[in-house]
Amino acid sequence: MEKLTARNSEEGKNTILVLQGPNLNLLGERETEIYGTDTLDSLHLKLEDHSKKLGVRLDYFQSNHEGRIVDRIQQARLEPVAGFIINAGAFTHTSVAIRDALLGVNLPFIEVHVSNVYARESFRHNSYLSDIASGVIVGLGTGGYRVAVEALVSQLVRAGVFDGEDPLA
Ligand code: DQA
Repeated sequence: MEKLTARNSEEGKNTILVLQGPNLNLLGERETEIYGTDTLDSLHLKLEDHSKKLGVRLDYFQSNHEGRIVDRIQQARLEPVAGFIINAGAFTHTSVAIRDALLGVNLPFIEVHVSNVYARESFRHNSYLSDIASGVIVGLGTGGYRVAVEALVSQLVRAGVFDGEDPLA
């Protein structure tokens, strides 16, 4: 596949930032019957592999702290970040601050949940992010991140931010 390059050299946006919220550092050891056995590192390695095939650059950030996630989202304004993949973990269901940060930077994002939150406790059914996301992926296990990267690349190609082939075409 043709490499993706930033179409607009002034903007130079060539990166997708993968944001991981609280407790996702314990992936692979926490509630493995729900979240599976991939660790965060092994997941990111697989994503790295896949992103090379797509020709897109991924950056990664995990924090257990709401404010640090807000700071990281804001920092993306100063970087060549074209959009986010975000699993905000439990903050999905509570955080107006993360919602406002995402609205504030005004970049597209795809919300990911490893588990099917709709098949779980009712407090997990509400998301402060879903209605402003450009896509939502739930219940596909850690494979959902890969789907999310492809979907976001596809959206960015169609929006003219990334040059190259639409991986979903
Ligand atoms: C989660 C679902 C959330 O409800 C939970 O708090 C998590 C992980 C998921 O990936 O399925 O920490 O976001």
